[in-house]
Order: sequence, then structure tokens, then C-alpha cells
Amino acid sequence: MKTRVEDRGDGSSGAPRADTLLTDTLLTDTLGRPLRDLRISVTDRCNFRCDYCMPAEIFGDAYEFLPRADILTFEEIERLVGVMAPLGVRKVRITGGEPLLRHGLHHLVQGLDAIEGIDDIALTTNASLLERMAGQLLRAGLTRMTVSLDSLDPDVFLAMNGGRLTVQEVFEGIATAERVGFGPLKINCVVQKGVNDHTLLDLARHFKGTGHILRFIEYMDVGTRNDWDLSQVLPAAELVRLIAAELPIEPVDPNYTGEVARRWRYKDGEGEIGIITSVSQPFCRDCSRARLTTDGQLVTCLFASGGTDLRGPLRQGASDGELRELVASVWGGRTDRYSEERTARMAEGKGKRERLEMYQIGG
Ligand code: GTP
Ligand code: 5AD
Ligand code: SF4
Ligand code: SF4
Repeated sequence: MKTRVEDRGDGSSGAPRADTLLTDTLLTDTLGRPLRDLRISVTDRCNFRCDYCMPAEIFGDAYEFLPRADILTFEEIERLVGVMAPLGVRKVRITGGEPLLRHGLHHLVQGLDAIEGIDDIALTTNASLLERMAGQLLRAGLTRMTVSLDSLDPDVFLAMNGGRLTVQEVFEGIATAERVGFGPLKINCVVQKGVNDHTLLDLARHFKGTGHILRFIEYMDVGTRNDWDLSQVLPAAELVRLIAAELPIEPVDPNYTGEVARRWRYKDGEGEIGIITSVSQPFCRDCSRARLTTDGQLVTCLFASGGTDLRGPLRQGASDGELRELVASVWGGRTDRYSEERTARMAEGKGKRERLEMYQIGG
């Protein structure tokens, strides 16, 4: 497959030469989107049982997660990130499952931090193990942290995470992150109509003025384990009305092209919130995110039904150049724009095709 290159204004456009293709030119997909972010799932396990991701009735004691041999080692992950950095990857997000369940995660952060070109290493966590690990992670070079918290209401939160953690325990995790020196956090709240939408204002009030950025995520049809349907989505426009009725807000320009969350700031200057509108206003046009599954598949869309195996070639002795060619050909041929096609697909009855699960590929 031919890899597309973009004019960088330095004369490096045009037909790629084999020796410069993967280092001097900007790799783009069929829609002209560069590869900038890599989201890495370091474990498919989680100590929560959120109903929309890992419902307890399916993920019981007998559920078999990936065997250790199938999971990429830290050295393998670092090698792949090193292979992808020259293709454009600048930002890495460590996810899961719950990434803090992976032993010695700070060693991975250290390894990623040493890779030339990687200038941002973020983590998405449910906060349950932060008290133990936040300090180590900061010292290892973790730049940013996002904490998931779906409600301040103790019963609603417990019901949503499968009875695993209290709101108070999440607050303790956040407090530890602050104490060890992390900057403002992002707080992710998945909004499910009829489940937690009556508790969103409380969450907004709580984080207003703290510096942390609360982001409301429209509930998505990721994976196959939740019975998603559109009636469970509170569209961003309604959410804005709900918040603005009590806490006046106004829109703000994105920080960078392709930013996932739309930004809104409090008119009284007490910080901002974000709304992730993947259902009501999809943002595929600027999507520069690739995902690496726990078992080493390269996935080019959150809604993909599969990926390209990198672990096989890696373990069979492929060189960095060969692995880079493989990644470049996958990205070069990428056409994904699932969220923009969702409505049409559903109308054609293709909505519930086979898909990877959120905990395999990370958020
Ligand atoms: P930064 O801008 O780096 O802080 O991160 P982010 O905005 O990408 O935030 P985060 O990684 O926390 O993403 C927030 C949520 O947005 C994820 O948990 C997903 O639910 C959703 N999301 C992220 N990336 C995508 C994507 O590519 N497609 C869709 N449909 N949703 C996404
Ligand atoms: N829709 C929207 N967000 C989701 N997340 C998990 N499943 C879904 C879904 N179906 C969020 C988590 C976490 C991040 C990893 O993704 O709550 O914040
Ligand atoms: Fe665990 Fe996150 Fe899935 Fe909840 S959404 S079960 S915290 S991986
Ligand atoms: Fe990117 Fe796929 Fe999400 Fe669209 S649906 S923004 S292509 S990950």
C-alpha cells in the first residue's frame, strides 16, 4: 500500500523516497489525517465493573482475561512506540482496563519518557490505586492524569461502577495526585440519561474553581457488552442548557486541532468544562488517534472490529524498519470515520457489528 505524504512547506512533499518516507515526511491517512496520538491499553483487567463497559454479570470470577504470554511486555511497548515516534506520534495515553493494575507501571512511563519525540505521557485511571502510585508515576515522567468519576451521588456512583469504590475514595486518589504535584487533572464523566444525568450539576459545582477540568462524555456505543441506544444519550446541546441554567458558561476555542472535548468556560472566571460530543457532533475529521491493544494489535478507530497484529512480527524478529513500514501502511490506508457514519449505519441495520471492547483498547 502506498503511504501518503503531506507538503510540510520544506520541499519534502511529493513521491516518498524509501529512505525518507518514514522519517522526514508526515504520514497521513486517506483523509489527510496525521498520526499524532497513541493510546495504549496495558491491561484488559479492571477492578471496577461499570455496567457500560464490564458488566458484573458477564465479567464474573470465571471470566478469562488475557494470559500473561499474550500481553505485550513493557520492552515491547517501548519498542513499538519508538518505531511510531518517527511517523508522527507525539502523545501517548496509557489506559486499560485499569492501567494501575499493571505491576511496575512507572517503569513503562520511564521508558516512554526516554523516547525521542514523545513529549506528552498521559494516563486515564479510575483513581482506586492512586494513593499508592501517584508519586512514583510523577517521578517517572508522567505528564498528565485523567480520572474517571461518573457521579458525586454515592449511590449512583456505586451503582455505576459495580459497587467497587466510593466517591470518597476517588477524592482521596485525586487529593494524592494533587499533593504529589500533578497539575490540574481532567475528570471524565460518562453521561447516561436516566442513570446519572440528574447528578451532573453537583459534579460541575464541586469542580468549579478547583482548576480541574470536568468533561462530560456522551454515552457511546463502544463494544458489544452494553445495550446502548440513542435514547440513553444526553446530547451536548441539552447538557449545555442544563449546566448554563445555573452556572453561566460560554464556548472557548480549542487548544489544538483535533481536540476531543469542546471547551466551555465559566463566565465568572472559575475555570472550564469540556463536552465530548462523539454522538451528537462527531469529530472524526481531525482524528489523529491510533490505539494499541493489550495483546499488541494496532487499531485505527475506537469502533473497529479488529486491528493489525504487531506482536507477531515483533516476536518473530522484525526490524524497526519493517515494523515502521507495517504501521505506515496501515495508517496510510486508514479510512475510519465511524462516528460520522453512525446514523447511516444504524439505518442500514449495521449498527451492532462485531467490535473490540473499550477495556481492550482503552478509551
Ligand atoms: P487530552 O486532550 O490529551 O487531554 O485527552 P482527550 O481529550 O483525548 O481525553 P481522553 O483521552 O480522556 O478522552 C476522553 C474520552 O473521549 C475517552 O474516554 C473516550 O470516551 C472519548 N474519546 C477519546 N478519543 C476518542 C475518539 O477517537 N473517538 C471517540 N468517538 N471518542 C473518543
Ligand atoms: N461511552 C463513553 N465513555 C466511555 N468510557 C467507557 N465506556 C464508555 C462509553 N460506552 C469512558 C470511561 C473512562 C474512559 C476510559 O472511557 O468512563 O473515562
Ligand atoms: Fe474499568 Fe474504566 Fe471499564 Fe469502568 S470504564 S470497567 S473503570 S475500564
Ligand atoms: Fe476517530 Fe473512530 Fe472516534 Fe471517529 S469514531 S473520532 S475515527 S476513533
